[in-house]
Amino acid sequence: MQLAWTLLLAWVVRRSSPKIYEDVSDLPGLGYDFVIVGGGAAGNVVANRLTETQNFSVLVLEAGVSNKGVIDSVVSFFVEDLLSGPNIYDWNYTSTPQIGLNNRTMPYPRARILGGCTAHDGMVYMLLAVRRTTSIIMRL
Ligand SMILES: *[C@@H]1O[C@H](CO)[C@@H](O)[C@H](O)[C@H]1NC(C)=O
Ligand SMILES: *[C@@H]1O[C@H](CO)[C@@H](O)[C@H](O)[C@H]1NC(C)=O
Ligand SMILES: *[C@@H]1O[C@H](CO)[C@@H](O)[C@H](O)[C@H]1NC(C)=O
Repeated sequence: MQLAWTLLLAWVVRRSSPKIYEDVSDLPGLGYDFVIVGGGAAGNVVANRLTETQNFSVLVLEAGVSNKGVIDSVVSFFVEDLLSGPNIYDWNYTSTPQIGLNNRTMPYPRARILGGCTAHDGMVYMLLAVRRTTSIIMRL
């Protein structure tokens, strides 16, 4: 069966029982009330909202692989491994030559994994001493 090339991974949500399929032939069917293209922050939130009433079946399509067990995507500070060069979890984009950067090109990380670019989790939480925080704010 030939479907859109982006369908490498599908997430079917129905009656609060989401399932991840990595092959089109494993899908329980091809008829859904809603098909969401993109399993990143927006797509998954919309899917979640649509299934709150448990009335609808929703198919979420995402390119790439499942984020299950991808530790570099789960642990915030490991994101560097996902950004450090071509890997199977990325589209491996590179920018065009940037005039403002002496025509250098830059890596342009875009995740190719369930979760979209939220899978590039670089969240850092730092608790500064009050005096240090005040001094930073005073300089702004
Ligand atoms: C969902 O189904 C319930 C029960 O059949 C119905 O009362 C409700 O209006 C439906 N909600 C939507 C958004 O269709
Ligand atoms: C990105 O590069 C990796 C490693 O070379 C490769 O396995 C992967 O298929 C590439 N991704 C795409 C979308 O071409
Ligand atoms: C950058 O590229 C532009 C367009 O090709 C060219 O005109 C310019 O001289 C280049 N600048 C540098 C610093 O090489």
